[in-house]
Amino acid sequence: MSSNRRSFLRRAAGAGLACSTNLAFGRFLFAETSSPNDPSRVFIDSRRTISPIDPNLFGSFLEHLGRAIYEGIYDPGSKLSDENGFRKDVLDEIKKLGVPIIRYPGGNFVSGYNWLDGVGPKKDRPVVLDKAWNTIEPNQFGTNEFMQWCKLAGTKPLMGLNLGTGTPERAAALVEYCNVEKGTEWSDLRRKHGYAEPYKVKHWCLGNEMDGPWQIGHMTATEYGMKAQDAARQMRYVDPSVELIACGSSGPFMPTYLEWDREVLEQCYDYVDGLSLHRYFGNTDEETGKDSEKFVALNLTMDRQIDETLAVCDLIRGHKRSPKKLWLSFDEWNVWYRARSGDAVNGHREAAPHLLEEPYNLEDALLVGGLVNTLLRNSDRVKIACLAQLVNVIAPITTNANGLFRQTIYYPYAWALQFARGEALNVLVQSPTYEVSKMEPVPYIDATATLDKNGQTSVFVLNRDLSKPRQVEIVWEDNAPSRVINSGVLTGDDLKAINSFDAPQKVKPQSFGKPSTSGGKTTFELPARSYAVVQWAS
Ligand code: AHR
Repeated sequence: MSSNRRSFLRRAAGAGLACSTNLAFGRFLFAETSSPNDPSRVFIDSRRTISPIDPNLFGSFLEHLGRAIYEGIYDPGSKLSDENGFRKDVLDEIKKLGVPIIRYPGGNFVSGYNWLDGVGPKKDRPVVLDKAWNTIEPNQFGTNEFMQWCKLAGTKPLMGLNLGTGTPERAAALVEYCNVEKGTEWSDLRRKHGYAEPYKVKHWCLGNEMDGPWQIGHMTATEYGMKAQDAARQMRYVDPSVELIACGSSGPFMPTYLEWDREVLEQCYDYVDGLSLHRYFGNTDEETGKDSEKFVALNLTMDRQIDETLAVCDLIRGHKRSPKKLWLSFDEWNVWYRARSGDAVNGHREAAPHLLEEPYNLEDALLVGGLVNTLLRNSDRVKIACLAQLVNVIAPITTNANGLFRQTIYYPYAWALQFARGEALNVLVQSPTYEVSKMEPVPYIDATATLDKNGQTSVFVLNRDLSKPRQVEIVWEDNAPSRVINSGVLTGDDLKAINSFDAPQKVKPQSFGKPSTSGGKTTFELPARSYAVVQWAS
């Protein structure tokens, strides 16, 4: 715990606030109100910062899976595509969103992918069977197309490497193909393919979910840790400036959760910079008993997952007496539970099948808002995170031949990209709580705040009360801001409402007005079932 945080807790205790920093909520600073109908308070002090927010905290993910690439971002036959075959409407949407970094090409797909199949003249590229999703992969979109697309979309690549069927040698060859200017076998191959300039890709994932028995090339933690170490060593010989991410656990549901991370890091701690985490949430019988009140509280379990994973990273740091502190790459996170079995995950050996096409409703968007809050308050150690995924496949954007629409989860993600700038602030939330099964009492109000270099403060607030509006008071402990410059709220009567091509605007942000500030306090009423953002000028 930082001394900043310790002294704050002492002051809060002195002010009569019972602060809870228990493990159930990870590092969420929270105090309970004395009665269930008390207004909630969010204490904000601009001096109490967590960390500068890494620009890559709200990245995303595009896998060769279903219609993410083909019919998603690349559709050469479409009237909506440019001369490269890139969908212009999708490019515009992603450019407008301002997605900073995009993980590619998988996911499970990457563990059987030969990147050489996807480079060189398109007519010579083989059509292959992608075994991960039982899908025909035509290889008409590959590394070079992705790099060109990233440039047009104003984003950066987070490249995934095949450490399933692939070798460390072939992984290092891809770094050479991408990052070395000329005069070596693989850099000259790139130049022969028509791309003179190296791409200087900085971030690389050493495989994907290698702890999972579903993964092609799945192995034990020690075997993977050694393979990752060797890949990292060879990649750094090619380009010492790369930043490398080892595969951590695929989620707390794994029987090897945390043990996997410990064993992997025992092998490769000194060779990597970050560790990956993944998590998908569902309002299912097993996870929530289909209880929406519990579902919208599940981001608190992500706080805990981050906390536990950091504890393992720091344990190994201690074992190794290493000066280096690892950061986390939460490179797959989202809601995903409806399109998760049967035909939704089996391509039946077709090209661009409709896989993982999850329709997102209002309650999913509320949880995604909560997950944004969780990432922000852990931004001192989570440096990369990827909403999985971006187009068509468990995605905020859905396309058809005539256009696209925004799913409900688009909006909290877009707000994070637009408003979460500068530093994350360590706010204290005081809120009434409610009970759900197998969790600590859950605060109705979940809030985070950011402060940018122009002195603009943004507050992100989730109201988990599904039946009642809640009063919220922001207590400005040092400087109260002058005026509201932006605000919006996502809410509605029907938690299960979705957007579609027929009704693309059923769930969309509404105006939240300009809550007024006086005497160092801003008060407003948050509608039931809502996620809101308010931004103030300094
Ligand atoms: O994002 C969909 C899949 O979920 C990815 O391919 C895999 O890494 C995860 O299990």
